[in-house]
Amino acid sequence: MSEKRPVTLAELLPLVSTGIDDLKATYGSWDQHPSTHADPETVHAVLGELVDRLDADFPYFHPQYAGQMLKPPHPVAMAAYVATMQLNPNNHSIDASRATTAMEHEVLDQLAAMFDYPREYMGHLTSSGTTANLEALWISREIAPGKAIAHSQDAHYTHSRMGEVLGIDTMGIPTTATGRMDLDALEAELATGRIGVVVATLGTTGLGAVDPLADIIPLARRYGARIHVDTAYGGFFSIIADELDPETARHFRAIKDADSVVVDPHKHGLQPYGCGAVLFNDQSILRYYHHESPYTYFASTERHFGEIQLECSRAGASAAALWATLRVFPLTKQGLGGIVLPGYRAAQTWHGLIAESDILQPYQRPELDIITYLPRVRTMAELDRVSHAIFEMAADTTRPQQTHLATYVVKPEQLRMRGIDLAADAPAARIMRSVLMKPEHEPLIPEMHHHVSMWSRRAYAATHDGVAVPTG
Ligand SMILES: Cc1ncc(COP(=O)(O)O)c(C=O)c1O
Repeated sequence: MSEKRPVTLAELLPLVSTGIDDLKATYGSWDQHPSTHADPETVHAVLGELVDRLDADFPYFHPQYAGQMLKPPHPVAMAAYVATMQLNPNNHSIDASRATTAMEHEVLDQLAAMFDYPREYMGHLTSSGTTANLEALWISREIAPGKAIAHSQDAHYTHSRMGEVLGIDTMGIPTTATGRMDLDALEAELATGRIGVVVATLGTTGLGAVDPLADIIPLARRYGARIHVDTAYGGFFSIIADELDPETARHFRAIKDADSVVVDPHKHGLQPYGCGAVLFNDQSILRYYHHESPYTYFASTERHFGEIQLECSRAGASAAALWATLRVFPLTKQGLGGIVLPGYRAAQTWHGLIAESDILQPYQRPELDIITYLPRVRTMAELDRVSHAIFEMAADTTRPQQTHLATYVVKPEQLRMRGIDLAADAPAARIMRSVLMKPEHEPLIPEMHHHVSMWSRRAYAATHDGVAVPTG
């Protein structure tokens, strides 16, 4: 083994390109059909134009991009994806993906172990967190037809939308000042007898809040409801649970007792988009998947992923990319945990700086790596104006100076719950939000805080005819 160092896609591409060419050559050569030929000059021009057009994107790859849940995959994942894509296996059936179906089983075993799921789990990768959640909600509907879905009001919109798709009612349970599902409100809903499944989100999309799963499970069981965990964003924090607040960790450790769980390797798992996962802790649900397909499952008698998933075609390259990534960065504290933890620390550090600031104040304490904060202003309309100005100004400067942030919409009562009382001259306002999902954010936090404070002062002055920010 050699010393660790940054690896680049440029150095890995020749390896996978030549490797797959050599593999193909063992089957004998053939002529490519003229209809697939292309003029190299045109191809170069088109790809050049593509690169130019991609310049319109924000710099998701850069540590100064601290906006939404976006970052590029690891070069290992990209190289493995490119290698496999050249053969383009389809993990729908074993015959279409002998190598990558096996890899998918290996990575699923690792994901199941991360959640401490039983060895007899059932699961598969999906194209997204949305399809993974849809599948878990569909199974819940099959088990308890006619019953509703309860999720927190801060849950991802996918749950209410999928309720519509599945023809099931959904109930948005209020959240507390921590952004977590309110247990009393949940119990009141469960007591009506109409809830078939409770969705607990561990890492809400907006705030990174962690629903109190360890307390939701006994409550839901008492009323005969299933428990589904949407940890599409937060799932990989399970491997660093020891480092989190003990209360947060308690809920991550309870995932093992939930009926199903969703995690997105294309968020914190270093994968390109197109890689979600759903796991069920009980194989008896397999009976709901029964279907006939005379044209696909021909050669192998083993179970094909296509027999146990809602989707049909699915990229074998996704399984290969995740498999390769987890070989290099296993699901341990030292492996992938070493990449997830710095973002968590960055959020805690920035939160501390904001709590001491004379211009900014925290919205709430970050449980994972998403921070929310707002300028110190007096009214809702002012808040919206200044927040938007900060967002625009921080990004609208020379490229090496840019800081990309995101915003989050709140109502006066949500601020009041958190001890921030603003005149309600507008029904809602934007506050600031940052997702710190790249480990490179951590060393930049003091500088980013300095920048954002500076832009906040300027934004305040610009929206108040040059008046200085009110203190206290
Ligand atoms: C908690 C949560 N659930 C579900 C989703 C939807 O996942 P996807 O975008 O992979 O479809 C997201 C996306 O941000 C999420 O944060």
